[in-house]
Amino acid sequence: MNYILTHIHQLIPVNAQGKLKLSGKDMASTLILQDAWLWVKDGKIKEFGLMSEFPENISEVQLMPVPGRIIFPGFCDSHTHLVFAASREQEFVDKIQGLTYEEIARKGGGILQSAVHIENCSEAELYDKAFERIQRLIQLGTTALEIKSGYGLNLENELKMLRVITRLKNNLSITIKSTFLGAHAIPMRWKSNPEGYVQEIIEEMIPAVGAERLADYIDVFCDEGFFSPEQTLKILAAAAKWGLKPKIHANELAISGGVQAGVQANAISVDHLERIGSAEISALQNSSTLPVLLPGTSFFLRIPYGPARDLIAAGLPLVLASDYNPGSSPSGNMQFIFSLGCVYLRLLPLEALVAITLNGAAALEISDQEGSLEPGKKANFNITYPLPDIAALPYYYGESHIAHTAVQGVFQGTAPSGYR
Ligand code: NIG
Ligand code: FE
Repeated sequence: MNYILTHIHQLIPVNAQGKLKLSGKDMASTLILQDAWLWVKDGKIKEFGLMSEFPENISEVQLMPVPGRIIFPGFCDSHTHLVFAASREQEFVDKIQGLTYEEIARKGGGILQSAVHIENCSEAELYDKAFERIQRLIQLGTTALEIKSGYGLNLENELKMLRVITRLKNNLSITIKSTFLGAHAIPMRWKSNPEGYVQEIIEEMIPAVGAERLADYIDVFCDEGFFSPEQTLKILAAAAKWGLKPKIHANELAISGGVQAGVQANAISVDHLERIGSAEISALQNSSTLPVLLPGTSFFLRIPYGPARDLIAAGLPLVLASDYNPGSSPSGNMQFIFSLGCVYLRLLPLEALVAITLNGAAALEISDQEGSLEPGKKANFNITYPLPDIAALPYYYGESHIAHTAVQGVFQGTAPSGYR
């Protein structure tokens, strides 16, 4: 494979000059090349430049003109729960009619409902459903993903979910990272003794997950009514013995101490952060932990949006992800996250793009290989339909603008005309 896309209307490589993430004001200043070319060789980016400086004496390279189109890196979605057995639209209707989260839980809804669905679903069926979802996400421009367990809530079903994720990892060409989220909710059997479940996670589940090498990361829902910072730190310490690094759910429902717990445990990222203030922001400033906002959840649950502008003003490397799950964010469409980032988080289009590409890759620890189109990195990129400017993508929300997606240089679905 050796081709050059030429006459690209706008090429946005999200060039970070070797840096593994872009922080603060650097997020807005990533390069836009007008009328550009992009050379792909053996699945990697070879070079890019302006048409006015097109390399001479090129032979045996296929040229593919894509006038009017915009090219940028594939989306790197660092937070999903896309292995689930069934949708929960009845809960959605109940919420429209005014039922609270607690009332829904009392009716048997919420995470525990998804756990019942997982229990009744075979591993093969679960795999097929997740595989279909990922195919749709690739068509929408996603080229790297994290997937969590957390709807099993007992050893057998957590392992079932993680084995499905492992098979997806092995069978697909996009990068997938796997996260063990046994501490997603307190199952009914431990309702009167939540500490017993924490012990079960530490003594039974983590060793089994670790021994089978089924996860890259450990997650805990560290929030009011779920797991406390103390319980979280205990779980993270047990997981560290198996090499599982933390990526945790924090501060979605309350100022829970989750951000500080994540920073203390040297988490790769703390995710959600709908409810944070200056104490959480300064804790993040003194750490290498990445702040991940999930605006799809704020939209769908009508809860506050995280303070994206404050995080950027504090010089932090903001990440946005989808949180794709059947309860609080039933969409993994990163183009919609792009629009929400601009509209509700007040990010400039380039800032939002950095947050869902390079910085997303950093939250997956793959930004040395993915997340930007720099020489030597994987040729994972999107080609839009004709658009006047990158800002038109989040502006025209609610439809897909992605005409072609390449993973390691190979077009998934249709290729631009002229491709052999
Ligand atoms: O990230 N916050 C915790 N977990 C999910 C919700 C899961 C569900 O309701 O199924 C989230 O929003
Ligand atoms: Fe989540």
